[in-house]
Amino acid sequence: MGKGKIVIITGANSGIGKAAAFLFAKGGHTVIMACRNLEKSRPVQQQILEESKNDKVELMELDMGSFASIWKFCSEFKERFERLDILIHNAAYFNHGSKYRLSPDNIELTFATNTFGPFFMTELLLEHLKKSEDARILHASSNIVKHFFDSKRKIDFDRLIGEMKDTRGFSVYDMYCQSKAALVMLTFKMAEEYKEQSIKVNALQINGAKMSKETLQKVTAGWRIIARIQNLFFPPAEKMADIYYNMCTSEEYQNITGKLINDKKEIMTRGVDNPSPLMQVKQLTRNSFYPKYVAQKENQEKIWSLCLEAVRTFR
Ligand SMILES: NC(=O)c1ccc[n+]([C@@H]2O[C@H](COP(=O)([O-])OP(=O)(O)OC[C@H]3O[C@@H](n4cnc5c(N)ncnc54)[C@H](OP(=O)(O)O)[C@@H]3O)[C@@H](O)[C@H]2O)c1
Repeated sequence: MGKGKIVIITGANSGIGKAAAFLFAKGGHTVIMACRNLEKSRPVQQQILEESKNDKVELMELDMGSFASIWKFCSEFKERFERLDILIHNAAYFNHGSKYRLSPDNIELTFATNTFGPFFMTELLLEHLKKSEDARILHASSNIVKHFFDSKRKIDFDRLIGEMKDTRGFSVYDMYCQSKAALVMLTFKMAEEYKEQSIKVNALQINGAKMSKETLQKVTAGWRIIARIQNLFFPPAEKMADIYYNMCTSEEYQNITGKLINDKKEIMTRGVDNPSPLMQVKQLTRNSFYPKYVAQKENQEKIWSLCLEAVRTFR
C-alpha cells in the first residue's frame, strides 16, 4: 500500500497529536484529526492544511470520554472512508489535582477517556481495520506505569464503573497511572486477539514531551509548578510524533505487535521476579523494563472483561 494511508489521530489539536497530524499530512496520508472541540481545533487543521500542502486533512468531532460520541464518530467515519490503516490513541485525560468526575457513561473519567474509550473505538473500527493491508494501532502510554514496580500497586478494578462510594484519597494522578497501565495491558491482549486479522497493536512509553501552556492550565497550581519544571527538560512534542510516525509507517515495525516500545525505539521487556537491589534500580531508572503486573495474563483478562462489560451497558 505504501503511501496514502488513512490515519485517525485522537487529540490531534495539540502537543504530540498535533505534531503527528502534521507529519502524516506532510507524508501525503489522509489524516483524520479526532478532536473534542471543533472550534478550537479548526485553526490547527487550517495550519496543517496550509503548511503540509496536503488537502486530505479532516477534522471530526470526538469526545473520548463519551461512548455516544465515540459511536457517532465511528459511524460517520465508516460511512465516509472504506478502510482504516492507522489508529493512534493519543488523547488522554490527565488533569492532575482535579476532583473526582464521572463520564456520561458512569465511569471514572480518567479511565473512561484513557482506557475504555480507546477499547470501544477500536472495537467499532475493527471491520475497517481488517480491510487494510497493514493495519496498525498505537497506544500512547507513559513512564508513569513504572509505579507498578511497587508490588503493592494494583488497579482498583472494582471502583472504575459506577459511582465510587468513597472518593476520599481519590487522585487523578493515581487514576492516570492506573489507566495507562491498563492501556498497556490492553495492548498485549488486543495484539493477541487481532493477530489472526494481522492487525498490529503496540504502545509507546513516553517519558516526557513539552506541554503547551493550555495543557499546563489543565492541572492544579501545585502540579503546574512540577510540570513547568519538567518542561524545562522534556524534548519537544515533535520527537514523540516522529516515533509515532516511524512505528506506524516503517517496514521495521511491519511485523511487530504486542510490544511496549521506549523513546529510543527499543522493545521493552518484562521486569524480573525477585530482582536484586541492583536490578531494582535498573528497572526504575532504565527504560528497558515494564512491571510484571502489566504482563500478568489475569490482569489483562480482567481489564478486557471490564471493557466488554462497560460497553455492553452502553449498547
Ligand atoms: N507530555 C508528556 O510529558 C507526556 C508524558 C507521558 C505520556 N504522555 C501522553 O502523550 C499523549 C499526548 O499528550 P500531550 O503531551 O501531547 O498533551 P496535550 O497537548 O494536552 O494533548 C492531549 C490531547 O488529548 C485531548 N483530549 C483530552 N481529553 C479528550 C477527550 N475526552 N476527547 C478527545 N480529546 C481529548 C486534548 O484535547 P483538548 O485540547 O480539547 O483538551 C489534547 O488534544 C497523551 O496520551 C499523554 O498521556 C505525555
